[in-house]
Amino acid sequence: MDTPLESSLPVPVRRRTWLAGLLRACNLTHIGVEVGSHRGGYAKYLLERWPGILYMVDPWVTQPADVYDDPVNSRDREADYAEAMRQTAAYDQRRVVYREMSETAAEHFLDESVDFVYIDGNHAQCDKDIAIWWPKVRPGGILAGHDYTEPGAVRFASNVKEAVDSFVAKNELPLRLTQEKFATWFVFKPVLPKRIHQIWLGSRPLRQKYVEWGKRFQELHPGWEYRLWREPPPEFLQAYTAVYSRAPNRAVQADLLRYWLIYNYGGFYFDTDCEPLRNLEPFRAYPVMAALATPDRCGNAVLGGVAGNEFYRLLLLRAVAAFNPKNSVAMLHAYVKLVNDRRDLCVRIPQPAFFPVEYKKRKQLRQHIDRVDFSLTYAIHHFDATWHKWTIANEP
Ligand SMILES: C[S@@+](CC[C@H](N)C(=O)[O-])C[C@H]1O[C@@H](n2cnc3c(N)ncnc32)[C@H](O)[C@@H]1O
Repeated sequence: MDTPLESSLPVPVRRRTWLAGLLRACNLTHIGVEVGSHRGGYAKYLLERWPGILYMVDPWVTQPADVYDDPVNSRDREADYAEAMRQTAAYDQRRVVYREMSETAAEHFLDESVDFVYIDGNHAQCDKDIAIWWPKVRPGGILAGHDYTEPGAVRFASNVKEAVDSFVAKNELPLRLTQEKFATWFVFKPVLPKRIHQIWLGSRPLRQKYVEWGKRFQELHPGWEYRLWREPPPEFLQAYTAVYSRAPNRAVQADLLRYWLIYNYGGFYFDTDCEPLRNLEPFRAYPVMAALATPDRCGNAVLGGVAGNEFYRLLLLRAVAAFNPKNSVAMLHAYVKLVNDRRDLCVRIPQPAFFPVEYKKRKQLRQHIDRVDFSLTYAIHHFDATWHKWTIANEP
């Protein structure tokens, strides 16, 4: 991984063949569409590595040269069709063939019903294909396509680059590209709300640097909603007073409250000792985002999720069941365990994005911060853990 945008993906996607891994890591495993299947090479690849139903859309006809200016158009299209069927025959229970044009095939799909669409049909009509298929992609799903190159770099008529550039600019979407000569482009349909929660409970004043980091979160996210919760909302207290009032410290109270905030309102949550460095737009891609704090363990200093999602519903149940007034990390552990148990309900973001330094090495952040590489980091969790030392009874 070598760009911040790549570090916001659960797995790197340097070649288009790696897209199957991304779809699996994002739990986008139900319905996919390939527009333009030709001889079935890429369809076969996807079917081999991805478990869902793949719709193969291609008319397999010779079209007027002024409509479809591509060497493919002068081939024996019946032979190409037969080859596509042969290549994907082993997956005929998960393959649906629509032998028709992109625009009529799209009518078979309801809006927001498809996990991903891969556009690789008539490259001179990429703008039209994007307009037709984008509404079909569900929130959190992916729209992708082949041959993001300068038009002159290919042997066929193409408006791919122009169409994609204007589409992402208009919709303010982070554009991801594979590292290939004939690059694949892909974008997620954002799903997480533009909302950031932070929590600081009790009467101790918030440290000045945390106040500044809170302001920086807001500066980095113009137009987003930002909320610093100084006390829990009454609806939360009504439901959770039994646990909340027995919590040994503010950290434990805040553990439960953060899960509830995500479940009820959706958005991102950051501990106050997180220093923001970049805009979080790329993470709006995931219905539930978990941030790795070590190579295999997530931390709950950074959270993301849509309101009402199944992961956080289960988490609230498990956190309350795990609550123990003598164990300050019981509700953190409930989260860590649920992330591991239910990978199907969350997307795990590699460590550099939010935990560039591990807990065990946290002294580096105080003593040698200039030696730490933050080039892939969106926010630094500093592990200050101040409030763990304080009891509620001793508050001013
Ligand atoms: C470059 S090939 C696709 C290659 C294939 N995706 C792969 O990677 O193995 C382009 C295909 O798009 C199809 N095509 C052309 N115009 C189309 C349209 N309007 N709708 C759907 N498919 C179209 C062509 O018939 C051709 O088979």
